[in-house]
Amino acid sequence: MKLSRVAAVGALAAIALYSTTLQSSVADNATTERHQAPSLDQPLRDLANRSDLRIGTAVDFDALNADTPYRERIASEFSSITAENVMKWQLVEPTRGQLDFSAADQLVDFAKHNGQKVRGHTLLWHNQLPTWLTDGVTAGTITPAELRGILRQHIFDEVSHFKGKLYQWDVVNENDYNVEGVSAKSDAYYNLVKDLLRQHVPVDGFAAQGHYGVQFGFHTAAQVAANLKRFEDLGLETSLTEVDVRMLLPVDNPKLQAQAQGYSVLLQGCLLSKRCTSFTVWGFTDKYSWVPGFFDGQGAACLLDENLAAKPAYDELRAILALAARR
Ligand code: XIL
Repeated sequence: MKLSRVAAVGALAAIALYSTTLQSSVADNATTERHQAPSLDQPLRDLANRSDLRIGTAVDFDALNADTPYRERIASEFSSITAENVMKWQLVEPTRGQLDFSAADQLVDFAKHNGQKVRGHTLLWHNQLPTWLTDGVTAGTITPAELRGILRQHIFDEVSHFKGKLYQWDVVNENDYNVEGVSAKSDAYYNLVKDLLRQHVPVDGFAAQGHYGVQFGFHTAAQVAANLKRFEDLGLETSLTEVDVRMLLPVDNPKLQAQAQGYSVLLQGCLLSKRCTSFTVWGFTDKYSWVPGFFDGQGAACLLDENLAAKPAYDELRAILALAARR
């Protein structure tokens, strides 16, 4: 990735777009697997490999160090990981000018050790910013012109540090809520991307996060695929980057079945799209999910429960991946 390319996208405060040009050196072991019949006993990563899809999870750094079954499951189940927090600006530069990539580096080492690729998350976001930055802007001691330079420096710091180690970067994050299907909001993105490309801004990817709730209903797989396709037709890769499907507690069987449907339409939408290269869940176990802390009375959003037992959603994803692998 040329730094100027990333900086250009960031400085324009573009959108929920990502950059893809950093390639990992990890060898893909999919070739031999492809010659064997898919089996429902296989982990997600082996099944997804057969369709050239990276299957990922967000990783809670503290849990990674403290919880062995959690760590082992990440290693066995996923081919891509995303730092849930430790690459965010607040964590890498808590004091102005003092960069701390130690946690993020450990995560990258873990991935390398386990033959996984890493998504960079995230260069620019309105949350989890360093206090020195937000306080400075509020107090007016950081001017808009200075802020532009600070943002540029931050982007250079991050992408330089991880150069060659990540395969995608979330360049500008979070304006991407509710853009899984075709809607007025995703239309606006589509027009913005066209406009940016016309200005020769190098945009490599478009991603939808995929934070669903069973109480709201879902798109169909065809609607998701239709939306991703129009971005792909502009020459972009696409991804689902933060999939989870929460529910109003308590958990019951109909909600678990509905949850499986939510995961299913997003994965099918991705698999139906030619250039949907990664599908990432925002945590895979309810033990560490962000949902209960952010949505009152809601939870149970992940593929596995607190004891790492599979829910219907997990079985559904395995079945879809196994079928896709027969193509
Ligand atoms: C969340 C993390 O999961 C939490 O641990 C943290 O406290 C707040 O951020 N969209 C995003 C993610 O892009 O970075 C957010 O992650 C969830 C919503």
